[in-house]
Amino acid sequence: MPTHNLLLLAGDGIGPEVMGEVKKLIAWMNAHGMGTFTSEEGLVGGCCYDAHGMAITDATMEKAQACDAVIFGAVGGPKWDKVPYDVRPEAGLLRLRKDLGLFANIRPAICYPALAESSSLKRDVVDGLDIVIIRELTGGVYFGEPKTITDLGNGQKRAVDTQVYDTYEIERISRVAFELARARKKLNKVTSMEKRNVMKTGVLWNEVVQQVHAREFNDVTLEHQLADAGGMQLVRWPKQFDVIVTDNLFGDMLSDIAAMLTGSLGMLPSASLGEVDPKTRKRKAMYEPVHGSAPDIAGKGAANPIAMLASFGMALRYSFNMGKEADLLDEAIAATLGKGLRTADIKSEGSTLVGTKEMGDAILADFEKLAA
Ligand code: IPM
Ligand code: MG
Repeated sequence: MPTHNLLLLAGDGIGPEVMGEVKKLIAWMNAHGMGTFTSEEGLVGGCCYDAHGMAITDATMEKAQACDAVIFGAVGGPKWDKVPYDVRPEAGLLRLRKDLGLFANIRPAICYPALAESSSLKRDVVDGLDIVIIRELTGGVYFGEPKTITDLGNGQKRAVDTQVYDTYEIERISRVAFELARARKKLNKVTSMEKRNVMKTGVLWNEVVQQVHAREFNDVTLEHQLADAGGMQLVRWPKQFDVIVTDNLFGDMLSDIAAMLTGSLGMLPSASLGEVDPKTRKRKAMYEPVHGSAPDIAGKGAANPIAMLASFGMALRYSFNMGKEADLLDEAIAATLGKGLRTADIKSEGSTLVGTKEMGDAILADFEKLAA
């Protein structure tokens, strides 16, 4: 059995609490011969700033480059609101994405039947929802230069962010979307979202997605929506979608919207993948919940560990070829929810309120049962 080397970066806020539940699962899998995982831990975000004056150190970046997968918790919080921009907690996360070349961010939004009541939308709109947002993660306005604030000297300042995309960046992210739509065997459909009515990057995005489709993926249905209309359609009738592909900034916003369709931001996992190395056949990867550090509930043992656990499930699936085990984990999550256990973020009438640890323990117990 191959050894899988993990780098666990729990980060700030609820990060360490939800990571604790992943550690329990890893220990159980190791003890029961269901994989051989080694794990190292490191600092990222505000806690790293407190220790080293920066959001991530070069030493941790080297470990991230060398490991098989980074498992990431969350970063940030009001404590670090005033730290210099370059060393703010989020800078650690962005450096990991950029330096590891993690251009493809996969964010599945699945509404477990047991949770349809927790969504702010009507049950029939979200019940059984299963869509995926493919967000471009290393380009666009997040990283484009110039990115500046200039003093104009007349009491005014000017801020500039640059939205920039090259053909190859759009090609490779659309391939990820088309391939996934094919493999999922659902609606076999990709919806591309941009703002070609206002932005040059939107014009190029639309053009390149069409070319890739015509050249390589004629068997998949391709639709286009303007990103604002797409946001509206996501809350109007989300089941029209299968795979959505969009840029870095629109993907950030649209995936938070999609999260609420599933009942809570605490439910959405994500995988960030790099290019497949032709020699080793491996790809760099990081797995992180879509939710943030939730400073308001940090340290209270109340956080929902499901997005974090499901992110580890995505590591099993995408990095370690352990699809069967990943399925088991998803089933265990569904089973636990089916029993009515709920953390505060997904609590509804008649369900049982539990904390982070109880939820993690219950999922692990169901995982054990299903694995037997
Ligand atoms: C996300 C987050 C990050 C982003 C923040 C924490 C920098 O919102 O992963 O969606 O904007 O990408
Ligand atoms: Mg976000």
